[in-house]
Amino acid sequence: MLDTLRQLFEHELRDLYDAENKLVRALDTMAKKVADETLSQAFKEHRQTTQEQAKRLEKVFRLIDKKPRREPCRGINGLIEEFSKFVSQEDPSQEVLSAFAIGAALKVEHYEIVAYQSLLRLAGRLGLTEAMGHLEQNLAEEQDTARRLDEMADQFAVFSTSAYEAPEDSVIIASVNSGDDVQLVDAEPVVYSAVQED
Ligand SMILES: [Fe+2]
Repeated sequence: MLDTLRQLFEHELRDLYDAENKLVRALDTMAKKVADETLSQAFKEHRQTTQEQAKRLEKVFRLIDKKPRREPCRGINGLIEEFSKFVSQEDPSQEVLSAFAIGAALKVEHYEIVAYQSLLRLAGRLGLTEAMGHLEQNLAEEQDTARRLDEMADQFAVFSTSAYEAPEDSVIIASVNSGDDVQLVDAEPVVYSAVQED
C-alpha cells in the first residue's frame, strides 16, 4: 500500500523520469519525420534539453537516497502512441504532419508542466528544498519550450492566415496542502515554498 506523500513523491518522480527518457527517443523520431527545417531543429534542441532534464531528475533521486528508477508513464506513452499512429495510419502530407507535430509537442509540454507543478507541490510539502531547485529548473524549461512552440505555431506558414492566436498561457493550479478547489488562473510564476513535514 502506498499511503504517504513521500511515497507518492517517489512514485511521481519515477513516472516523470520515465517520461523524460521516453521523450528523448520520441523527439529524435519527430525531428527525423518532419521536413520543415525550423521545426526539426527545434525538436533536436529540445531533445538535448530533455536529456539534461533527465540528468537533473537523477540528482533528485540522489538527494532522497534512491537509485534512479522508472515507472511507466502512461500519459506520455499515450501521447507518443498518438503521434506514431497518426504518422503510420493517416499518411499525412508534410504540411499536415508539421502542423500535427507542433500540436503533439505542445500536448507533451503541457502534460509535463502540470506534472512538474504537482511534483513541486509535493516536494514543498515534504521540505525537499534542494530537490525543488532542480525541479523548478525543469519546469521553467518546459514553460519556455511551450512558449516557443506557441510562437512557432503562430508564425508557421500553414497557420499564418489563421484568425486564431494562442492566448497567454493558463494553467491549472491545485493545492495538495490546503485542499483548495482547482481553479484556472493566468500563468504567473508559481512560488512553491518548502514546508517541513509535521
Ligand atoms: Fe521535459
